[in-house]
Amino acid sequence: MSLKYPELFKPFNIGKCKIKNRIVMSPMHLAGRMNDNGTLSDEAIDYYEERAKGGAGLIITGGNVPDCDIELSPLIHTAFKHPDAFLSQTKKLADKVHAYDTKLFVQIGMGSGRVMFPEAMDKSMNNTPVAPSAIPNRWNPSLVCRETTVEEHQRAVEALIKAAALIKQSGADGIDLAGIYGGYFTDQYATKVFNLRKDEYGFEQNGQIKMLIDTIKGIKAVCGENFPISVRVTPKHYMKAIGQGALPGEDFEEVGRDINETIELTKRIAESGADAILIGNGSYDSFYWLYPPMYQKDGLWLEDAKKIHDAVDIPVICPGKIVTPDLANNAIKSGMIDAVALGRAMLSDAEWANKAKEGNDDEIRPCIGCETGCIGRIFVGQPLTCAVNPGLFHEKSEPITPALIKKSVAIIGGGVAGMEAARVAKMRGHNVALYEKTDKLGGAIVAAAVPDFKDADRRLLEWYKRSLEKLGVNVHLNSNMDLEKINLLQADEIVVAAGATPRIPPIKGLDREKAVTAIDVLLGKKEVGKNCVIIGGGQVGCEVAVWLKEKDKNVTVVEMLGELMAGGVEQIPIPNRLMMIDMVAYNNVQVKLNSRVESIEDKAVKLITADGIETIEADTVIISAGFSSNDTLYNAINEELPVKIWNIGDSKIPTNIQYAVRDGYAIGKSI
Ligand SMILES: Cc1cc2nc3c(=O)[nH]c(=O)nc-3n(C[C@H](O)[C@H](O)[C@H](O)COP(=O)(O)O)c2cc1C
Ligand code: SF4
Repeated sequence: MSLKYPELFKPFNIGKCKIKNRIVMSPMHLAGRMNDNGTLSDEAIDYYEERAKGGAGLIITGGNVPDCDIELSPLIHTAFKHPDAFLSQTKKLADKVHAYDTKLFVQIGMGSGRVMFPEAMDKSMNNTPVAPSAIPNRWNPSLVCRETTVEEHQRAVEALIKAAALIKQSGADGIDLAGIYGGYFTDQYATKVFNLRKDEYGFEQNGQIKMLIDTIKGIKAVCGENFPISVRVTPKHYMKAIGQGALPGEDFEEVGRDINETIELTKRIAESGADAILIGNGSYDSFYWLYPPMYQKDGLWLEDAKKIHDAVDIPVICPGKIVTPDLANNAIKSGMIDAVALGRAMLSDAEWANKAKEGNDDEIRPCIGCETGCIGRIFVGQPLTCAVNPGLFHEKSEPITPALIKKSVAIIGGGVAGMEAARVAKMRGHNVALYEKTDKLGGAIVAAAVPDFKDADRRLLEWYKRSLEKLGVNVHLNSNMDLEKINLLQADEIVVAAGATPRIPPIKGLDREKAVTAIDVLLGKKEVGKNCVIIGGGQVGCEVAVWLKEKDKNVTVVEMLGELMAGGVEQIPIPNRLMMIDMVAYNNVQVKLNSRVESIEDKAVKLITADGIETIEADTVIISAGFSSNDTLYNAINEELPVKIWNIGDSKIPTNIQYAVRDGYAIGKSI
């Protein structure tokens, strides 16, 4: 027997610290999952322990700010203000992960600077963010930042060194410094357009990483040469203007920091004593590079990471949609990087590393880049979750356990909610049969997964199919169920996961043959002509628009609101939304905002826009105006059958995938 992915399981060193394999957990802030004083909660410790048990070689915690009052927010609590509590909780974590021979680094960094959300600022800041120079705030350019003082830089360095000393005392194995990463505070010094200073910290004075170098040297002096430091570095910002990212493949001039500049800075960082580099492309101005959504390709940072790897002698570790062990193994084997880091892939599956080791990579539950649970939540002040892993943070405290009484469970509907309910109920030992009215599993995700840029959805669907097959769930396709048929099943409990149907708005002429739903177009049930008008500029409408442009159609999107992808039950996560809006523009999709379709004519569509009535040519009108729940079956059987009946997912209320999976998991666990 030999390893399927041998490169991943060769040990490597960060300084003198030996890591048992090449799989690192990328730092992810645990918003809403920490104690109120900023220390690790027991829930957070359990979460990290599960990832250590899952085989990660090194865990880097989410970011922490030191005890320094340059920038204050009621939302950010520094654990270093409470040294005793910090030490006891971090010690607890170090002990837990060390039991699995996993190493622990704690990330520290100085905060946001110009990218601070105005609503997150403490009152004492008088609505004035701080930054290297008096530059506009990223989110509200009318707010001009206050330029930091030299004394503040010295205080920041001291606070970081003090935090590092506590981290070492806690028994953690090392530190990750946020460094020149992601457009955050210290990265702004190393970005020409944001650092206009004329003093020793100035860009033109070559002082752009002075604070960072002082910190590295200071930590080494206090914690010892052998206490390892990795530094997070952004090779390239992918900014085509301030506040504007550039799409992959787009021809643009870099306004942020470009790769050659970063190579030189990284050499200086390595010379100053750093023991490893953790890559992270993008910035708050190019959000969809920093937190890459589903529309970005897998391993999108690897090529830039390789250029850094070629320039320095210390290990280079790279995250960024490294979703499969195959990609990870090849990236190391081909000499692009020394180790991979996994962020969201470790939210969606704690056992990623063990499954890769055993060659069971088809069992890894894939992250789909939806960001509805992670980035989409933490940036609106809600606790971190994962759309496809509802057990996140409860994997240890509330595992899936065998049911005491085995029941026969009938699940009606084979979309994500139904498949998740079937998976969990079957894992618990129930006798599960799933009835799907079409000829395939997947429900709404079948259509959603059609565009080439939705490969993550296809991967999730395949994972569900394999999981149900391996578990031995009885799947009955082409089974259109009604009250009579369901009654005959004599099931102990029934789960209705009948999904949703496209909503058809009351528009004159919609009965014409050229009016079709977006779902039918995606599924290939309806052909479209050369000129397409899409009614509805939500996520589905925009994705269909870009997909049809790739097929060389002329596409116009008509949206009632003043912005694309702005409606819906829940806000679409910022990186996904910004990227899709840019894709719409880049692909020359015509967009009519604040407009509605008045009527569908023979060869055209009549619109009412803010400027009056407009007629546009249309061979096909594609309806993408939201969904209505298919709750008729549930209502019919619930009033008739004397058994427990659950209505879950879109057939209860159409929302996003996160709620479908959540419902299926909860019901599967409770039966
Ligand atoms: C919820 C969340 C929180 C994050 N918090 C941090 C953080 O505190 N520090 C940091 O350096 N990166 C942070 N990141 C970025 C990740 O470390 C990683 O670079 C990014 O998610 C891309 O890698 P992935 O595709 O493997 O997730 C965060 C990412 C997510 C999804
Ligand atoms: S919420 Fe979506 S993007 Fe975030 S980790 Fe889960 S699957 Fe991945």
